[in-house]
Amino acid sequence: MKRAFIFDLDGVIVSTDRYHYAAWKSIADDENIYFDEVINNRLRGVGRMESLEIILERASRVYGQEEKCALAELKNERYRSSLEGLTQDDRLTGVTQTLKALRGKGYLLAIGSSSKNARFILDKIGYGDYFDAVVDGNDIVNGKPDPEVFVKAAQKLGLSACDCYVVEDAKTGIDAAKSGGFTAVGLHDASGYERADISLSAFSELFALD
Ligand code: BG6
Ligand code: MG
Repeated sequence: MKRAFIFDLDGVIVSTDRYHYAAWKSIADDENIYFDEVINNRLRGVGRMESLEIILERASRVYGQEEKCALAELKNERYRSSLEGLTQDDRLTGVTQTLKALRGKGYLLAIGSSSKNARFILDKIGYGDYFDAVVDGNDIVNGKPDPEVFVKAAQKLGLSACDCYVVEDAKTGIDAAKSGGFTAVGLHDASGYERADISLSAFSELFALD
């Protein structure tokens, strides 16, 4: 039996995806760069600068490093202001009850997120002190698909990869979990991904795992 669940944050615990998309879309529109929801799917789980590089693949000119940093900063300002209104109601369906139930079964619960805004978001949704470990974009050198974020979360829990499920909505996150030796559970966009060990159609189905 596993001893812990390590959750991705954006798109698994909380519905911030639409805010990421809206902020990137406004940047792309300002720069006259084509960007849509299909391209946006490639940004799931991917760090901020790497996300910008994907958007700039469609640009008609080359951007310098300073310009790129300024665009990423602007995107983050717009994204952060849309997070101001987040509340507990932005937890995704089934999250509150299922986390409580998993904890009741004795599992440790952790967050492994690429986002540098993860702690801010957790505070906003009433989970500031809830998880047994939080590792986010500020704590890692290598973003997903590198397993660093999950490896560090397992270390903080005092567990090894084989003791932990990783729950992800991004294919990149499933790749990260698999290369770290974790059991990868795919939800939403990652449900049905061939590299996921387990695919679920609802967060509450986590309760049936053991
Ligand atoms: C991930 C999101 O959780 O965090 C990505 O899925 C995002 O879309 C990444 O790019 C980095 O987020 P932030 O908040 O540090 O810009
Ligand atoms: Mg995600």
